[in-house]
Amino acid sequence: MSLYNDAESVLISKEQIAQKVKELAKTLTEEYKDKNPLLICILKGSFIFFADLIREMNIPVEIEFMAISSYGTASTSSGEVKVVKDTDKSLENRHVIIIEDIIDTGLTLSYLKNMLARRAPASIKICALLDKPDRREIEIEADYLGFKIPNHFVIGYGLDYAQKYRNMPDVCILKKSVYS
Ligand code: IMP
Repeated sequence: MSLYNDAESVLISKEQIAQKVKELAKTLTEEYKDKNPLLICILKGSFIFFADLIREMNIPVEIEFMAISSYGTASTSSGEVKVVKDTDKSLENRHVIIIEDIIDTGLTLSYLKNMLARRAPASIKICALLDKPDRREIEIEADYLGFKIPNHFVIGYGLDYAQKYRNMPDVCILKKSVYS
């Protein structure tokens, strides 16, 4: 069975992603030069984006990983998240950048950002690869964004459906028949 069997179509190709990652990294390199930023990868969905992005940044950075899980189902979620794996380092007086795969309702990221803001960082910003603004339930925007996309369920480049497809190099639209 091919990896792409459950993909309806390619939404963003690996070439388009690579180009955008370069642009984002260039912006971050300029804005965070001399700031020794602390980049936090939100597992698991962001791991490929994160690895590509930091290798395009031409300044010293430090990295941390966080894993979170939401309470309840997506449709009833309050956005309250449980921290499954926390950062090892303190965020105090650090210039923190949260690296996220996709902003959907915004509930998870909003909760996470508020939680991390209470740890007294010097600054805290969000960098997201994808944004589905049509689905937003709470006001939150990425400070650095790759692509705004329409309301489709997407897979690939780190994003999963039922833990699969993370290794697809492109971002694809998942066939509706897979989840309905
Ligand atoms: P939010 O709290 O609704 O913004 O949830 C964001 C999280 O839901 C992301 O970090 C993803 O893990 C997941 N998610 C939302 N939309 C998609 C999608 O289209 N494909 C894969 N995961 C998604």
